[in-house]
Amino acid sequence: MTKIKKAVFPVAGLGSRFLPATKAQPKEMLPVVDKPLIQYAVEEAVEAGITEMVFITGRNKRAIEDHFDTAYELESELESAGKHALLELVQNVIPKNINCIYIRQPAALGLGHAVLCARPVIGDEPFAVLLADDLMDPDPGFPSVIAQMTRRYQEEGASIIAVQEVPREFTNQYGIVSGSPYKDRLDKMFGIVEKPAPQDAPSTLAVAGRYILSGKIFSYLEKLGKGSGGEIQLTDGIAALLKDEDVYAYRCAATRYDCGSKLGYLKATVALGLKHADVGEEFARYLQTLKIN
Ligand code: UTP
Repeated sequence: MTKIKKAVFPVAGLGSRFLPATKAQPKEMLPVVDKPLIQYAVEEAVEAGITEMVFITGRNKRAIEDHFDTAYELESELESAGKHALLELVQNVIPKNINCIYIRQPAALGLGHAVLCARPVIGDEPFAVLLADDLMDPDPGFPSVIAQMTRRYQEEGASIIAVQEVPREFTNQYGIVSGSPYKDRLDKMFGIVEKPAPQDAPSTLAVAGRYILSGKIFSYLEKLGKGSGGEIQLTDGIAALLKDEDVYAYRCAATRYDCGSKLGYLKATVALGLKHADVGEEFARYLQTLKIN
C-alpha cells in the first residue's frame, strides 16, 4: 500500500468569523495557549510519518511561512542572552527532515479549489488534508487523528474522511455523510452533502476537518462548478469520487474544537490550558475560584 507522505493544509480562507483578529493575520496563527493552530496540525501530520507539508496560502498568510522558517535574528538574540531552552523551542518548531511547500490560492474560491491548487505537488498519489482550524485532541491511548487515519488507510487502501456525531440542529454547519456500518469505527460511505438543513440531513455524522484522499479527487474537483455558499466545495468532489471508488467515514477517537468559531476557540483554550504542563494546575485553581451563574 502507498504510504501517505504528503499533507495539504488549506490556509487561504478569509477567517471572517474571527474579525477583527484576522484582519492582518491568518486565523491559523491564533495561539491556543502557546502554539498557533497550524503548528498543532503540522505536529499531527508529523506523528503520522508525513514528511511533505503543502500549505495552500493566500493574502495575509506570510506569518505561516515565517513560523516554519529559520528566525536568524531571534535565534542570535536568544543565543547571546543565554536563553537556551527558548532557543531550542524556536529551532524545533518543525523537525529537520520535514519539507514545507507553499502554493498560493489566487482567490478564496472555496476549500475544493484550495485542495485542487495542490495538484502539481501531489500528482496522483493519495494524500492527507488537515484543516488547522479544527483542532483535534485525541482520546487517551490514541495517536493523532491523522495517524489514526493513515493506519486505517494501510488496511483499506481507500479514501477516508474523519467524522463525528453532532446534534441534529447543527447539521447546517458541516458536511454530513451517509453510509452503512462496515468495520470498527468505519462506515462505507454512499453520500455526502454540504451543510444540509436539520430536516434534510441524511444523518448526524459530520465531517471533522481530516481527510485521506485518493489522487483521483483532482479530476473531479477540476470539473466542479460553484456549490453551497457560491464556493467550489471539497464535499462535492468527494460526492463525485465515491460514485467511482470506495470512500470510508472514520469515527475518529478525539475531541474536536472548531477554532474557526469564537466559542470553539475558547473551549480549546480552556481544555488545553488545563492540560498544559507549565500552567495547567494553577489555571485549574483559578477556574475554580470563578463564580459563574
Ligand atoms: P472555512 O469555511 O472555515 O472558511 O474554511 P474561512 O474563510 O477560513 O473562515 P470564515 O468562514 O470566513 O470565518 C475551511 C477551511 O478551508 C480553507 C480555510 O483556510 C479553512 O482551513 N479555505 C477555505 C481555503 O484555503 N480557501 C478557500 O477558498 C476557502
